[in-house]
Amino acid sequence: MADSAKLMGPAFKQKVSAGKTDAKPEIWSDWAKFEKAIADYEKAASGLAAAARLDPAATGAAVKALGESCGGCHESFRKPKEQSYKNR
Ligand code: HEC
Repeated sequence: MADSAKLMGPAFKQKVSAGKTDAKPEIWSDWAKFEKAIADYEKAASGLAAAARLDPAATGAAVKALGESCGGCHESFRKPKEQSYKNR
């Protein structure tokens, strides 16, 4: 997952906000914030990998932090379910 974070920026660099996508236009109007969300996710994923290896007791909290990083980005940059292209 931490490695996948490196693909997220390049994957979204090209603006695709029409057609079959739930990506919000805010990704491109607020690119710095989007990159910050990617960085938070990468950090949380690396944190989970380290916890799983070195500190099993911290793994639960690390999973929670990772989940929050998914939600943190989706909240700002992914259209909610009701607005998803899948429901149109
Ligand atoms: C940096 C931002 C960001 C992070 C972090 C992120 N997502 Fe997303 N996610 C998106 C965006 C944007 C979309 C909508 C993409 C589209 O429709 O083109 C999406 C879509 C999805 C979808 C729907 C895919 C589909 O086929 O429609 C799932 C499932 C998902 N994310 C799961 C996760 C999980 C689980 C995590 C954390 C482990 C995560 N995401 C972290 C931005 C992010």
